[in-house]
Amino acid sequence: MDITILVNLSYIAASILFIAGLKMLGSPDTARRGNAFSSSGMLLAVLITLLDQNIVDYRYIAGALIAGSIVGYFAATKVKMTSMPEMVAIFNGFGGIASLLVGSAEYVSGTFDNPAFLGAIFVTVLIGGITFTGSIVAYGKLSEIISGRPFLYKGQQFVNGLLVLSILLVGANMLYIQGFISAEQTLMLLLALAFLLGILFVIPIGGADMPVVIALLNSFSGLAACAAGFVILNNVLIVAGALVGASGLILTNIMCKAMNRSLANVLFSGFGAVADASSESSQEQGEVKPITAQDAYLILEAASSVLIVPGYGMAVAQAQHAVRELGELLEANGAEVKYAIHPVAGRMPGHMNVLLAEANVSYDVLVEPDDVNPIMETVDVCMVIGANDVVNPDAKDNESSPIYGMPIIEVDNSKTVFVLKRSMASGFAGIQNPLFFKPNTRMLFGDAKETVSTLVSEFKA
Ligand code: TAP
Repeated sequence: MDITILVNLSYIAASILFIAGLKMLGSPDTARRGNAFSSSGMLLAVLITLLDQNIVDYRYIAGALIAGSIVGYFAATKVKMTSMPEMVAIFNGFGGIASLLVGSAEYVSGTFDNPAFLGAIFVTVLIGGITFTGSIVAYGKLSEIISGRPFLYKGQQFVNGLLVLSILLVGANMLYIQGFISAEQTLMLLLALAFLLGILFVIPIGGADMPVVIALLNSFSGLAACAAGFVILNNVLIVAGALVGASGLILTNIMCKAMNRSLANVLFSGFGAVADASSESSQEQGEVKPITAQDAYLILEAASSVLIVPGYGMAVAQAQHAVRELGELLEANGAEVKYAIHPVAGRMPGHMNVLLAEANVSYDVLVEPDDVNPIMETVDVCMVIGANDVVNPDAKDNESSPIYGMPIIEVDNSKTVFVLKRSMASGFAGIQNPLFFKPNTRMLFGDAKETVSTLVSEFKA
């Protein structure tokens, strides 16, 4: 068979595996299989490309493959579950720089002859550069190497406007004028402007909005790869890049909806500022009522419906196995037990689902805020396990709150609320939570795993 036909058939097979894999990732039951499908599609695409395109010495490829595999292996095995978002951020950045290098190499080789081709190079380098530095800044904000506060300054819109105009001029020189400055100078200028735009694009956005930014940067890395596919005329890269670009955009949209915000508001409002310690939303609002695990047990034992609301603290405490055990004991005691999952609970999309799946909590008992908020008055006990911002009533009651408008799990409407956390410290948004001071709230101070384990022991005693 003609090698070109074989290559294209293999690329079609790889694309089908990507699409089927993505579809399977949509449900927890099939997600693992979906991952295996997509990975085998990628393996097929890489192998066929290596066989087809004898353009680079195999020793370079082998060297890069080994170096990349070592870095990837250690990064993936050493990373803590709580640091996953940072890792996703940095991987998006790697994707961006890889596409940028492909585009730059093609431009420097000078083997192009039409503006469409140059346009693809321009888009690859521009989006790849923005993705790279934008992802580094997102990584810095999430890992708290740099402040999570939005960095706003006077004349910001003007500077950004000037930057975009300069990029357009460089693009015009690249595509049409050619010769105004040399090809190397054009490329260097484009790289510098794209890197700067990536930094200035992410730096004004508050830490609390980083999930949306990471989903968007993920989409950008896909678009850069798609454009790189046009540059080197590789069909499977075009398809894979378009899939990443589109799914990243869909995820961005889902995250914006979960926060009840528009994308423009996330990107340009400087929202998500960590509240000032002296501001109203950071101050304590009365007396809290602590309770011991033993007293909490007595209330739980009498409850006929219990709603567990996990958050970032459950991930920190690694309490998911103890929580599942407690849930089973409550059910055995005759209570109806559900787990309410907020879309932005934790630090990455699906964070709570992953932890609960790891602890073998059945998917059937997971509910969304919209399912449970209308019937919250009928719930006997809400157990808030290491969650804070996602149950903060200020999001619906206090127009001056930085998180006003974000949909929450309205646990304050239930009969009794237990809040499991170690102290009165704030959550990710850095703001006080009036839930802790409500008459129906009891604080169970301590590490979530220890508290839940004590409750488990009480039930078993
Ligand atoms: P947070 O509001 O961040 O609150 C977590 C709470 O867990 C803290 O108040 C902390 O209080 C407590 N905690 C920490 N370690 C604990 C432990 N060992 N035992 C018991 N409690 C512990 O969490 P959330 O309600 O899940 O909200 C998520 C926030 O992160 C939102 O603001 C969201 O926008 C943001 N965010 C989300 C994502 C995604 S995609 N999910 C990504 C980045 C940011 P103590 O220190 O007092 O224990």
